[in-house]
Amino acid sequence: MSNRRAFLRFLAASPLLAGYPAAELFAQDGLLAKAGDGLDVFDFEAMAKRLLPPAHWGFLSTGVDGDVTLKANSAAYSRYQLRTRRFVDVSRIDMTTQLFGESFNSPIVLSPLSSQGAFYPEGEVASARAAKGRGHLQILSTQSTRSIEDVNQARGKPVWYQLYTTDSFAVTTKLLQRAEGAGCPVVAITVDLPAGRNTVTQGRFQKLDTRDCVTCHGPGGPSGNGNVVATKPMFTGIETKGVRMQSASLTWDFIKRVRDVTKMKIMVKGLESGEDAALAVDNGADGIVVSNHGGRATESGRATIESLPEVVQAVAGRIPVLVDGGVRRGTDVFKALALGASAVCIGRPYVWGLASFGEQGVDRVLEILSTELRLAMAGCGTRAISEIKAAALIDTRMR
Ligand SMILES: Cc1cc2nc3c(=O)[nH]c(=O)nc-3n(C[C@H](O)[C@H](O)[C@H](O)COP(=O)(O)O)c2cc1C
Repeated sequence: MSNRRAFLRFLAASPLLAGYPAAELFAQDGLLAKAGDGLDVFDFEAMAKRLLPPAHWGFLSTGVDGDVTLKANSAAYSRYQLRTRRFVDVSRIDMTTQLFGESFNSPIVLSPLSSQGAFYPEGEVASARAAKGRGHLQILSTQSTRSIEDVNQARGKPVWYQLYTTDSFAVTTKLLQRAEGAGCPVVAITVDLPAGRNTVTQGRFQKLDTRDCVTCHGPGGPSGNGNVVATKPMFTGIETKGVRMQSASLTWDFIKRVRDVTKMKIMVKGLESGEDAALAVDNGADGIVVSNHGGRATESGRATIESLPEVVQAVAGRIPVLVDGGVRRGTDVFKALALGASAVCIGRPYVWGLASFGEQGVDRVLEILSTELRLAMAGCGTRAISEIKAAALIDTRMR
């Protein structure tokens, strides 16, 4: 099975693939012959599932407990319908999005997603090239498998940096200094995993994988007894013995502590309530990402798109509010923008593209979502991101 995967991956990377019979071979296998053949993001999900080893697929696809929140994230988008508008001149659609004075070609942002080398050898660097090609913002995980400097070089300008707080402020300070030194203008502090999580689906897939993780990961790897943290480039040169990624004891004063050691803008990633949004503003946060870690944190059963309105209301325009979780269509992006998001992040979909075709797969996923968003904007008579308002939506639960 793993030889077959390696062979298919080899074919996927081959320029010869454009023609018969390779394409036919892939079609027989239910796979895409080239990235351009993907018609929606689910084509890449199916392909990634076929190509990845079970343990890696399990890591990518898992939620927590019964995956209820994971499923709710995408299902909840169907609660909202679009109200189309006609006879508006939509011959020019402008998706330009401003965040902290920086201009991006699109409101679609690449979420920080760890360990991308587990999905494609070039990992985060391939994602960065695709983000650069289409002018998207990319947020890089603390757990990136490629160094922040290499990723920034591939993207042509610095990413935003996602911080796991760790339980050692000395280590945290070094991470922040390195990200700032690499030119990152913004740090997003992830706060939704204070006390670990229960990734049942991941555990099930892991059991199907007969390989010994230590062979590739070394003793620090998933099933090893070593220091997982130390295997990630962000921690090169940092003493990490006994250091954990999160701390269960942190409180809101953590934002000020971060503020004292960095000039980067500070976002808080992983808020879902109006109360916390107000506290974030009060405690000096520059932005919020409404997120439940893609259904991988608390099994709340609540979709992020349903949390977004109360956060937007509490923030009242004082700082930007981004959202992620379950975004699978351009229409989902449109709905999140209409509910007040300043930008919308995607996680698994771009990594399905990455696992399938590397940079080209990410590029195609971004192209598909952008095309879908463009059509939604045109259909609703909204020519610019700023024209997408709540009036463009119907909340079917409120009827
Ligand atoms: C495999 C995987 C790894 C992730 N790693 C991180 C991470 O290192 N830091 C973080 O803040 N969020 C991480 N996330 C959460 C994403 O940033 C994002 O919140 C989530 O993927 C959005 O949901 P979606 O995958 O449904 O689009 C991860 C998500 C997945 C699926």
